[in-house]
Amino acid sequence: MSVDVRPFPELVDADRAGLDPPYDHFDYVGTRLRAPKEPLVIIPSTLTELTGPAYGESTVDPRDADLTRQHAGQPLGERMVLSGRVLGSDGKPLRGQLVEIWQANAAGRYPHRADQHDAPLDPNFSGAGRTLTDAEGRYRFVTIRPGEYPWRNHYNAWRPAHIHFSLFGQAFMTRLVTQMYFPGDPLLEYDPMYCCIPDQHARKRLVSLFDWESTIPEQALGYRFDIVLRGRDATPMEKP
Ligand SMILES: [Fe+2]
Repeated sequence: MSVDVRPFPELVDADRAGLDPPYDHFDYVGTRLRAPKEPLVIIPSTLTELTGPAYGESTVDPRDADLTRQHAGQPLGERMVLSGRVLGSDGKPLRGQLVEIWQANAAGRYPHRADQHDAPLDPNFSGAGRTLTDAEGRYRFVTIRPGEYPWRNHYNAWRPAHIHFSLFGQAFMTRLVTQMYFPGDPLLEYDPMYCCIPDQHARKRLVSLFDWESTIPEQALGYRFDIVLRGRDATPMEKP
């Protein structure tokens, strides 16, 4: 039996058809094994799933949003400011949303034992950050532009530079996950994770925009990435 634990079940509706990647996409090899083989069974959410575990705003430190200042020294690589808004239906800003990111370092390496890519770790970069959206739904991170990395999905497979995003909602059951890419990346058209999003226009909504306004002179380039949860401009989300 397969269990549907998709978050925000109200979002999994007709207007997301063609928007989210399928469970099973032949070119994305990992999905061949993990995709459900049986029809999904929807389990009604109970109070426990909807109310806990929760996070408290007090546990989110403003320093969590600056990935370049989490260690004694500065990480290697190109600094960037990553900002945007989290929007609901009709462009309504979602305030107080926990936005988490995780990413490879500038050399394309994650500090995780499963990542054995022959590229250097950076002792000054953990690659994880979080913040809460403000009253206008805005979030902002300072980080390092991640490097591309190989992933053995097929011969000569390289992931485009990307940053993983999680929107937590109010509990684990309401978590949404997606990835952000960079404009003009030549690897996008070769990437099964990007290309398995059926709607070509929706795919492009995962590509951030270079943002002159948030670029800091002498310091960091700005990129903008808005996340829209519903409606015509909704952002594609990964399957849990
Ligand atoms: Fe990744």
